[in-house]
Amino acid sequence: AGLVVAIDGPSGSGKSTVARRVAAALALRYLDTGAMYRAVTWWLLEQGIDLRDTELAGRLAPEIPLHMGLDPDEPTVRVGETDVAAAIRESRISTAVSLVATNLAARADLVARQKAIAADGDVVIEGRDITTVVAPDAAVRVLLTASEETRLARRAQELYGNVDATALDATRDQVARRDADDSTVARFQEAAEGVDVVDSSRMTLDETVSAVLELVEK
Ligand code: CDP
Repeated sequence: AGLVVAIDGPSGSGKSTVARRVAAALALRYLDTGAMYRAVTWWLLEQGIDLRDTELAGRLAPEIPLHMGLDPDEPTVRVGETDVAAAIRESRISTAVSLVATNLAARADLVARQKAIAADGDVVIEGRDITTVVAPDAAVRVLLTASEETRLARRAQELYGNVDATALDATRDQVARRDADDSTVARFQEAAEGVDVVDSSRMTLDETVSAVLELVEK
């Protein structure tokens, strides 16, 4: 099988942008696994399912007609015929997604779908558990980190278009809560065995992409 590049990192580490750019540079496919958790969340809410009903949500998750478009220049997310790329970024989804991410049956189903894509190779996959669970045998495994300060500023810029005190305050709660929720899925204090750490706190986007590309060439 072809090359697999696995990239993990916390919220605001810049992993989505970096992973897309790396995939485009190497003419590989690109898979955003966070978008898959978001799409399942969107779909279950659309059906009026109470996500706290773990048993029901876990039973329904495997039935979602999820279609991921893997072109890094134009990644798409469809559920059935519906383009959900914009809808899955809404804050109501960001708030609810942890309930799907911590649902073991839903996770097992999404991990299986992700492993099938990894098995075909020629792909950059990004998420929280890619270097450890989805593609532990990937040729290149990267943990992309950034200081809490940096991650906060990047998120504020993304959500509010600026990094003034109001934007930072509004972002701080969201980032802290999601980090706490995500800590059951992955801890990023240290990388797993054989995983290279790239700390992007003091790097531009271009520098971060170059650092990952260097690991691929190594
Ligand atoms: O918005 P952000 O880039 O931080 O997150 P995302 O990559 O869109 O992922 C959304 C949520 O999905 C995360 O907060 C995790 O709870 C969950 N997730 C996961 O559990 N495992 C993955 N491989 C990817 C995402």
